[in-house]
Amino acid sequence: MAESKASDALVFFGATGDLAYKKIFPALADLQHRGLLTVPVIGVAKANWTLEQFQARAKASLEAAKKPAEMVARFCAGLQYIDGDYLDPETFRRLRKALGEAKSPLHYLAIPPSMFATVADGLANSGCGENARVVVEKPFGRDLASARDLNATLHHFFPEERIYRIDHYLGKEAVLNMLYFRFGNSFLEPLWNRTYVESVQITMAEAFGVQGRGRFYEEAGCIRDVVQNHLLQVLATLAMEPPASHTNGGLRYEKNKVLEAIRPLEPGALVRGQFDGYRSEPGVSPQSTVETFAALRLYVDSWRWADVPFYIRAGKSLPVTCTEVLVRFRNPPQTSFGGQELGQSQNHVRFRLSPDVIIGWGARCKLPGQEFVGENVELKVSHESVEDIEPYERLLGAALQGDPSLFAHQDAVEASWEVVDPLLKTPGPVQPYKPGTWGPEAANGVLLPGATWHNPVL
Ligand code: BG6
Repeated sequence: MAESKASDALVFFGATGDLAYKKIFPALADLQHRGLLTVPVIGVAKANWTLEQFQARAKASLEAAKKPAEMVARFCAGLQYIDGDYLDPETFRRLRKALGEAKSPLHYLAIPPSMFATVADGLANSGCGENARVVVEKPFGRDLASARDLNATLHHFFPEERIYRIDHYLGKEAVLNMLYFRFGNSFLEPLWNRTYVESVQITMAEAFGVQGRGRFYEEAGCIRDVVQNHLLQVLATLAMEPPASHTNGGLRYEKNKVLEAIRPLEPGALVRGQFDGYRSEPGVSPQSTVETFAALRLYVDSWRWADVPFYIRAGKSLPVTCTEVLVRFRNPPQTSFGGQELGQSQNHVRFRLSPDVIIGWGARCKLPGQEFVGENVELKVSHESVEDIEPYERLLGAALQGDPSLFAHQDAVEASWEVVDPLLKTPGPVQPYKPGTWGPEAANGVLLPGATWHNPVL
């Protein structure tokens, strides 16, 4: 349930970190600029910094994000900062004092999960956790067992309705547009099922490597990094039943049902790849078997989707940076226009989620002329400036208002881990691939006979 009461302060732990610099300061400044952040903002970290140093860091972040000077000045002037060890109760006493009259703060934990319990304990013992909401960053565990432990730790201090788990994909304009398109139109619904849909593909391609995050990536790998969270959420958005409402838990409830209905992976339905050169990245073991690419075939065992393959493919160092969904429809049973036309239809709906937003309908049309000969065409709508509202801005704004609909519920997190857990336990070999290619050849083995991968073209 959405709680109506807005938070009256925003505290962010890990305020001197990379995420704060790249994403959080710009998101908060934008929220303030739109009049949606009117409460005190207090950064907390252990960096031996003064308030002035903290403000200078925020200023550098906003300047790098090309925010106008008056916006930068206004945002930085209002910041407060507490430098202190999360293990020291004094840090939290100072925080309580800085919170002043605030009675229902929002605590954003942009810190490693290993620190969650320490910080939650400090908040609870100092009174800062009373009536508070807490926003936590992924990863929510590294497998099903650790996700359950992490949830138990958080629940020890905060009830589920006050925990907001951020998956920035859920705040993306393009993902929300996909949701809207599905349920804002009546023409799609009669076709959106196993009778008409042949397969669904989700491709998240990135043309860059691990960008200095080798140490993190060694712990994660592609499946933990983007499949368990972002891409299963996209799948759930595509496959869910119409929610009774998009607030009050309706959206989350319907998505959870999809995640819970995903069939355990069959042998041969996963191929893991690693790009040549990954093992020489800083922080990466020379013998690493961590995957930088994964291709998998899943099934949602529901009345609507029984036996329709859902293909997911994600990887680093692929030919383009682009995330795209392709829903392929079955061919017409026959054509009235001669045998050579049979099987050539490419009816589809294509959702491009990044770098731009495109919705395309693939259809077959007659070529001008005397003969009944056709061609495949695509009718499309595109929006160029996608991230007018950045995901972090949207999500932190919603958390401040007490709207959890775009955050992951505990049940969804656990159901997603259940999907990938068997893969993580017995992952099989990792196949090498050349940077700039679409991953190892073996990825074709994930496809059912006759199917082909859809490679997005920019
Ligand atoms: C992050 C992953 O969650 O999402 C990264 O850790 C990935 O590895 C990133 O590059 C992709 O997000 P976006 O919004 O840039 O598509």
